[in-house]
Amino acid sequence: MIPVILSGGSGSRLWPLSRQAYPKQFLPLVGEQSMLQQTLSRLPVDDLEAPVVVANDEHRFIVKEQLAAIGREPMSILLEPFGRNTAPAVALAAIEVARKDPKAIMLILPADHAIEDTEAFRAAVVKGEEVARSGGLVLFGITPTRPETGYGYIAAGQSGAAPGGARPVSRFIEKPDAEKAAALLSAGGYYWNSGMFMFRADSYLSELKKHSPDIYDTCLLAARSFSRDMAFTRIPPEIFEHCPDDSIDYAVMEKTSRALLVPMDAGWSDVGSWSTIWDVTTKDDQANAVVGDACLEGASGCLVHASDKLVALLGVKDLVVVDTKDAVMVAHRDNVQDVKKLVARLNGQQ
Ligand code: GDD
Ligand code: MG
Repeated sequence: MIPVILSGGSGSRLWPLSRQAYPKQFLPLVGEQSMLQQTLSRLPVDDLEAPVVVANDEHRFIVKEQLAAIGREPMSILLEPFGRNTAPAVALAAIEVARKDPKAIMLILPADHAIEDTEAFRAAVVKGEEVARSGGLVLFGITPTRPETGYGYIAAGQSGAAPGGARPVSRFIEKPDAEKAAALLSAGGYYWNSGMFMFRADSYLSELKKHSPDIYDTCLLAARSFSRDMAFTRIPPEIFEHCPDDSIDYAVMEKTSRALLVPMDAGWSDVGSWSTIWDVTTKDDQANAVVGDACLEGASGCLVHASDKLVALLGVKDLVVVDTKDAVMVAHRDNVQDVKKLVARLNGQQ
């Protein structure tokens, strides 16, 4: 099993801690290790090969240093000159892996997820590996708890003929609108797509070729001109710029008939915003989550991230206060999805 870590996001909703030059996946947002390091550290140890990391060229030294710090020698660090979303990122990794062994099993992992129950995660991965070996495209399904519009929804049939007791995917709906998400939740029987996948390199490539041939062709062409420099493999910008921008969910998973679902009940969250950080951080008896040096009096439901200074809160509710060297953000917990609007404004885009 070859872990493929998608580490190309910019994490703008976690400003001011997450920055373009140092995005969230490289920060220790949940625990001691960075999210990238945690993604590798929680993997089952049996049958684990060296990882492939797909990241932006700008972050190459951060990736290399963070892997070295936890003693993980990469098989390859694939460097994108710019992002073209996850379908091409996974395609480039699959081509790289298939050069050595087309039937090698890839475990695709976003570098920005928190998982509470490592044992349950590992058990699902071991099961997924068995399913992927027989040619299925495995999705790990999470039981939904709210009508979230930022996730994919999966309807699965009975296990029946599917290998390893996995369930055939009958429908995959990526990011429904609010009305549709509410309808899917109340209909019941749907899972959230965790964004983690498992398949043989050749299975993904043949489904990509079938459903998104432009991405397949462009990535194949780009891979002919990979340039290698120590651990780094660079993707040629003059070819990659012609690659369509699309996610693995729209480009392959919504369309393939080879998708199989393995449920995962592991306390999973996509650490996308400050409210998720509040969700996954240990809280005091007033539901305050504090990281760093802070003094709270009569405050409740707050999240404090203090870096350099002491942060003091008095008589406030449901606030997010993030202090960094050069910026302080104070927001209501209900408004943190809009942090990217702030970032756009600061970048002069609004
Ligand atoms: N290398 C690379 N290049 N990585 C990328 C790129 C890219 O161009 N774009 C995104 N990523 C990484 C992100 O850093 C993240 O770790 C992962 O790929 C998924 O991308 P997101 O942009 O966070 O996707 P999403 O959260 O909107 O949706 C996906 O995840 C949901 C669960 O968290 C989908 O798979 C949904 O169906 C799913 O429910
Ligand atoms: Mg995400």
